[in-house]
Amino acid sequence: MPKGPAGSTAAGPFDFPPQRHGGRNPVKELFGTLADGTKVHRWSLENGGTRLKVLSYGGIVQSLEVPDRDGRQANVCLGFDRVEEYVDSSPYFGALIGRYGNRIAEGRFTLDGKSHQLSVNDGVNSLHGGTQGFDKRVWDVEPFTKGSDVGLHLHCTSVDGEMGYPGTLKVKVTYTLTRHGEWRIDYEATTDKATVVNLTNHVYWNLGGEGTGTIEDHELHIAASHYTPTDSGLIPTGEPAKVAGTPFDFRKGKQIGRDIRAGHEQQVFAKGYDHNWVLDKGITAEPEHVATLRDPSSGRTLKISTVEPGLQFYSGNFLDGTLTGTGGHTYRQGDALCLETQHFPDAPNHPSFPSTVLRPGQTYRSTTIHSFGA
Ligand code: BGC
Repeated sequence: MPKGPAGSTAAGPFDFPPQRHGGRNPVKELFGTLADGTKVHRWSLENGGTRLKVLSYGGIVQSLEVPDRDGRQANVCLGFDRVEEYVDSSPYFGALIGRYGNRIAEGRFTLDGKSHQLSVNDGVNSLHGGTQGFDKRVWDVEPFTKGSDVGLHLHCTSVDGEMGYPGTLKVKVTYTLTRHGEWRIDYEATTDKATVVNLTNHVYWNLGGEGTGTIEDHELHIAASHYTPTDSGLIPTGEPAKVAGTPFDFRKGKQIGRDIRAGHEQQVFAKGYDHNWVLDKGITAEPEHVATLRDPSSGRTLKISTVEPGLQFYSGNFLDGTLTGTGGHTYRQGDALCLETQHFPDAPNHPSFPSTVLRPGQTYRSTTIHSFGA
């Protein structure tokens, strides 16, 4: 049984009801204004010991607080204080990613015999939807409470041809906090022309607390016997490789720092880990548990369950000490990690990868659940 927050009489941090802010939950406030005058709002919600702050800009999770083994709350996500910082210099902190999570080689793919050129923003490749991806959109946000759940529906429409993608894509993302303190994400999208879609979220986790230093001491378990090796530009070669006997084997769980300096060619390309793990369970109708992250010092744990076939584990390799976050600390290499549930990078150019094609009349659906404990 987890202990309650300091001074709490509740049975445990995962049991208290959604009734803060004088009964108002979620709460909306003005966060900032974009250069074109658009207002950006911040929504604060909580349930079951988890507190979440979400921006209408990018659907960004600015902070997510969970208790440690002694009930002490800490924000476990990297983020900024001001909207301008998200606009100018964010490496996707906490953001919704679309239309396509991770890279598409040279920003090009062919669908039904027609070739498409996407916005290119990562050398010659297209990363996370292009220069103006979903992380830079202002979403329409609608709060809800349903039974013991509290959440937000986020909507946006991406017009035909936006960032080079065919079809008008209507997207709905639902963030739910459950009474057990889980953060659940449900994605839905429809299109009026055949297109490709791969949505995810880009939270940078540090379970010891945002700005507390390296995640190399965190333990990570990933239920995957294969990963997709890349070329030096981080584009999958197309042939999944076995993790057995390599630094990529997280099947038994290990400290992230243990093999991060093993000097494997793949790690040299990525400056650490920045790869797609091929989840053993494959695509599932219901979310299944695929990864566990644990910080031994605070005792906090994060379990990830998903319907997706892939998980991008990125060890914060490109954080370089130039950004200062919400707690006033600069972020350096390895100060956080991302665990992005997804279809595989560059799938539109690899017929052997699970398909990311969405056609008119179909609904794209994806769900990922983050469960916290201590
Ligand atoms: C990618 C990294 C990239 C990061 C964003 C990750 O999903 O795999 O290569 O640098 O996102 O900054």
